[in-house]
Amino acid sequence: VQVEKQGFKHFMLKEIYEQPGVVRACLEAYLHPDWHPDKDTSPINLAIPASLYDDLEHVQILACGTSWHAALVGKYLLEQLAGIPTMVQYASEFRYAPTPLTVNTLTIGVTQSGETADTLAALAMEKKRREGKPSQFQVRLLGISNRPESSLGHLVPQIIETHAGMEIGVAATKTFVSQLMAFYCLALDLAYRRQTISATRLEEILVGLRQLPAQIELILESQERYIEQLTHDFAETKDFIFLGRGINFPIALEGALKLKEISYIHAEGYPAGEMKHGPIALLDAKVPVVAIAMPGNVYEKVLSNAQEAKARDSRLIGVTPMNDPEAAETFDDLLPVPAVEELLSPILTVIPLQLLAYHIAARRGLDVDQPRNLAKSVTVE
Ligand code: G6P
Repeated sequence: VQVEKQGFKHFMLKEIYEQPGVVRACLEAYLHPDWHPDKDTSPINLAIPASLYDDLEHVQILACGTSWHAALVGKYLLEQLAGIPTMVQYASEFRYAPTPLTVNTLTIGVTQSGETADTLAALAMEKKRREGKPSQFQVRLLGISNRPESSLGHLVPQIIETHAGMEIGVAATKTFVSQLMAFYCLALDLAYRRQTISATRLEEILVGLRQLPAQIELILESQERYIEQLTHDFAETKDFIFLGRGINFPIALEGALKLKEISYIHAEGYPAGEMKHGPIALLDAKVPVVAIAMPGNVYEKVLSNAQEAKARDSRLIGVTPMNDPEAAETFDDLLPVPAVEELLSPILTVIPLQLLAYHIAARRGLDVDQPRNLAKSVTVE
């Protein structure tokens, strides 16, 4: 398939702009269109056989890179919505130090390409070591991938396809957002079946998910020019710190990874509450801090963590709810997103971070779509 840039300077920017459509495509694929709370079925349609879900006690997720960040958001959702203890492992680590076998465990491999060698090998190993074991140890494999026809497709019997369309930019953007959508729907489906969620709460989240595409559009329309301007100030910057907590901690990691991958600036993602145990020693006027602060139970905490960075003269950039006076007072620069609840916010908070990384790299004249030393999928160990 020939994919064109359609007037965008880089594939990455085009792919960032495709995200509202990707979220819509996922919603269309994963949600039953005519579901109603009075209906006696799950609102989610992932076509997952009961044999994968029955008596589930644990989930373990194996992935690399950006897919590993999606897995961390998935863990939050599976634990907080469906009440299932969930482990997330780097596939490259799991291969050589696997977790002791747990019973009634769903193993999920997340890989957008379906070709990452470490992820495939870790899944194959898991399959092998559960062979011939008593029934409660039997392997239950699920893939989350943008390419169901990939090698992953041959390895696992069941795949949630992520409907992002072909991604050309080496730095993953729209495939990440589509993986998050898969995890929202998987966690909601399990929560419904395990009765860990009320009908009202379920509906509230579904309504919120359906609003995301228009909200991403709003961020793209209102933020891009501003973010491009902002990057003028970072022409000489050598280090960035990204902070987040709870469900936005993995987004801080992802924001830092995007920046490293395409701009070659050193960046670290940290859980905001851990800053005082190390990274704070790095802070001064030369090290900007990007903090994600969305309404929810860690909102005030993140703001106060950000204040600590400000006291060290760091330039403070906040991904915050729109029209929030408290945020406006705390941060030097604001990257506002619609004020959704924290649980739904990762799909919005990642957007300004993608744009920030993109514009910093583009301004430096770097090869955004083909960064040095990186490959779109790593098919060797
Ligand atoms: C490479 C890419 C990353 C990607 C990772 C995992 O390192 O450069 O963008 O996140 O592989 O890829 P996967 O296809 O398994 O999601």
